[in-house]
Amino acid sequence: MPDSLPQRTTKVVAPPRREAKPPGPCAMVIFGAGGDLTKRLLVPALYNLSRTGLLPEHFAIVGVDAVDQDAAAWSKSLRDMLQSFVGNAASESRIDAVDDTAWQRLTDAMSYLKGDFNDPGLFEKLHAHLHDLVPTRQTQGNVLFYLAVADRFFGPIVENLGHAGLLDEELRDETPRRWRRVVIEKPFGHDLDSARALNTRIRRALREEQIYRIDHFLGKETVQSIMAFRFANGLFEPIWNRDRIDHVQITVAETIGVEHRGKFYDITGALRDMVPNHVFQLLAMVAMEPPAGFHAKAIRNRKADVFAALCSVQPGDAVRGQYGPGAVLGKKVSAYREEPDVAHDSNTETFVAMRLAIDNWRWAGVPFYLRTGKRLAGRMTEIAIRFKPAPYAPFDETRVATLPPNWLVLHIQPNEGISLQFEVKRPGPVVDLAAVQMAFHYDDWFPREPNVGYETLIYDVMTGDQTLFNRADMIEETWRVVQPVLTAWAAGPPRHFPNYASGSDGPDAAEALLRRDHRAWRPLVDANAGAASQGHDKA
Ligand code: BG6
Repeated sequence: MPDSLPQRTTKVVAPPRREAKPPGPCAMVIFGAGGDLTKRLLVPALYNLSRTGLLPEHFAIVGVDAVDQDAAAWSKSLRDMLQSFVGNAASESRIDAVDDTAWQRLTDAMSYLKGDFNDPGLFEKLHAHLHDLVPTRQTQGNVLFYLAVADRFFGPIVENLGHAGLLDEELRDETPRRWRRVVIEKPFGHDLDSARALNTRIRRALREEQIYRIDHFLGKETVQSIMAFRFANGLFEPIWNRDRIDHVQITVAETIGVEHRGKFYDITGALRDMVPNHVFQLLAMVAMEPPAGFHAKAIRNRKADVFAALCSVQPGDAVRGQYGPGAVLGKKVSAYREEPDVAHDSNTETFVAMRLAIDNWRWAGVPFYLRTGKRLAGRMTEIAIRFKPAPYAPFDETRVATLPPNWLVLHIQPNEGISLQFEVKRPGPVVDLAAVQMAFHYDDWFPREPNVGYETLIYDVMTGDQTLFNRADMIEETWRVVQPVLTAWAAGPPRHFPNYASGSDGPDAAEALLRRDHRAWRPLVDANAGAASQGHDKA
């Protein structure tokens, strides 16, 4: 296998795109207007929608929060944040310059209400304000309520909206003439019981069609593209099953630590933060059956089938870890227990790996291995599909077992793309085999548009498309799958935390989890960045 693959970059003009149309009139109410999510992601996403002409022509944004400020001060703090993304290579939200016309459209639409989310008085004020926006901003009474708040407020806000009559839609033949929709951020519950209780609570005030349970991983273009890759090509589906696939590895590795989120993270941990939501969404995209159509009901049904067929994970099939001090990308960093707002004897996991089984005809006997963690050696999100080896090797002195495996890798981030590793004959007089890689990079084909990942999701809520959002049953099934591990971990504290150095590949126990199946994790380097994929499988 070559040490590094030659970089061949062919710039190609992609076929013209199907143009999206701006959504119809509406108001967007953001609870948690002063919060991090609003500043870093929601408003930059609205700005990008404004820049690309995909905001409603008649639109209003209402910020709601406890901070005492007016619309001008709120707008200024948002603009300052946007400005900080200009030329900031380290930020996902990087932009080249702020387009004043696009920003002005947003500012003109903004108003602000101060209040306490538990106070019914706030919701009366909001009722009157939304009523005024119908003639002044021509919103036609349509409202998107975005709950960008801590999860303890989800229930109270929905109830208060309901009591104030703010969730009532005018239905005609089951179709709302005036719609009301609520976006609920993660975490949706912290275990199976609390997720069920939250579903029951919000469904007293809302129909399922009004609820948009968001998972921002589904806003990533590369994640959405998995369905296109599988179902718009005739090539892959015939081999996408237990006959040809040996196993699947899903990795979401981060180099960052908990940063300023210690308070939230220390009571949450890596398992709750990442697995039943983000990682399972990736798994569902790979494992789902072809939908009968490309619409919300068909797609969500097929994803729900996957979650329902996932076996609950037994504690022996799960590994936890916590980072100690070390060096990440050449920079010294301290242990998790030294992070701000983290207990000095914290037993919260910052890494989790597990082995999953899906009980259905397509996947019986094919293990899915998942791992995610903070402060790892590299930042890399990928889904790697390992194919079964050739049944027989007609080459002198080459045993099948020594042939490097065929890997199909969906690179989610960074360096988005798809690569395939296969065997060729090395040039020369003797038959000598080499593993090479065929790699597709999104950047080679499509111009990169500034995108924070929330644009499509917000647009979809405005247009009433629930495809990329979770239904109540999907959320409950995912918690059901991880519940035995949550229960076991709560009952038995870990003995050896911290158990991996910052900047490493995670705890040794994660390696052992695969070793016992005679397999090994792929290295934490992004193969699509140009280096050869070293699928160092020991099978
Ligand atoms: C969030 C988690 O939902 O997703 C974070 O709470 C994590 O802990 C983040 O870092 C990862 O998302 P992204 O889009 O930065 O890969």
